[in-house]
Amino acid sequence: MAQLTIRNVSKEFGDKGNSIFALSNVNFEVEKGEFLAIMGASGSGKTTLLNCISTIDKPTSGEIKFENFDLVSASENELSVYRSKNISYIFQSYNLVDTLTVYENVILPLQIQGKRVLDYIKKIDEVLKKLSIEQLVNQFPDKLSGGQRQRVAIARAMIDNTSILIADEPTGALDTNNSENLLKLFSEVNEMMKLTIIMVTHDPNVAKYAKRILILKDGKIQKEISYQGNNRDEFLSEIYMAIR
Ligand SMILES: Nc1ncnc2c1ncn2[C@@H]1O[C@H](COP(=O)(O)OP(=O)(O)OP(=O)(O)O)[C@@H](O)[C@H]1O
Ligand SMILES: [Mg+2]
Repeated sequence: MAQLTIRNVSKEFGDKGNSIFALSNVNFEVEKGEFLAIMGASGSGKTTLLNCISTIDKPTSGEIKFENFDLVSASENELSVYRSKNISYIFQSYNLVDTLTVYENVILPLQIQGKRVLDYIKKIDEVLKKLSIEQLVNQFPDKLSGGQRQRVAIARAMIDNTSILIADEPTGALDTNNSENLLKLFSEVNEMMKLTIIMVTHDPNVAKYAKRILILKDGKIQKEISYQGNNRDEFLSEIYMAIR
């Protein structure tokens, strides 16, 4: 069974007669452990789609399921459990709590779920080292660079065994070098932990790290391309062709 099933999803904004469809009849599935990129021009519905998957927003019609759990008909309580158990966001800066240290930020989801931090010490150490942020544990997020903040956010997602990592333009404010490092990290985390990644980007050089790309146009899936495992430069040319 697919991890995520999106069936005939439409999202209408505004009043009747004067409304726009940010999404119209979107259909796709995401398997556990996929690395999916969503591309498309500004206003094509990318963020709206992420928001429906993360339950920040609800579709006007259609069905979204996480495994067997129906996101559209679930209660607010059920959704909040779904979000804290399964969804992690990587944004450029505003997903860390500035009054908590790096370490406290990393273990926050464990505490929210009432888990014993002691049971996770080994894993936490491992992840902090893997992401080269073990020296930063006592710092506060506002003292960190954009790239460091993102690594802290990824550490949090990894320790929490999040099912789906959602990233909206994760490289938006990063230079080329840091973008590349972040994407390599995404690939690694995706391979190593079988973490599903759904990433929005307009940049073909970012999208080329994904295994599958959906291209949205006016709220519809216009095209879909998949990485065949040959080489990333060929995939990059394919992406340029697809978005032309
Ligand atoms: N809360 C809202 N109220 C009204 N219209 C909205 C709202 N959110 C999005 N829209 C409209 O829905 C459409 C899709 O918006 P969305 O933010 O999903 O686009 P996007 O693909 O993420 O664009 P960008 O690349 O600029 O971030 C746009 O026309 C936008 O103006
Ligand atoms: Mg957007």
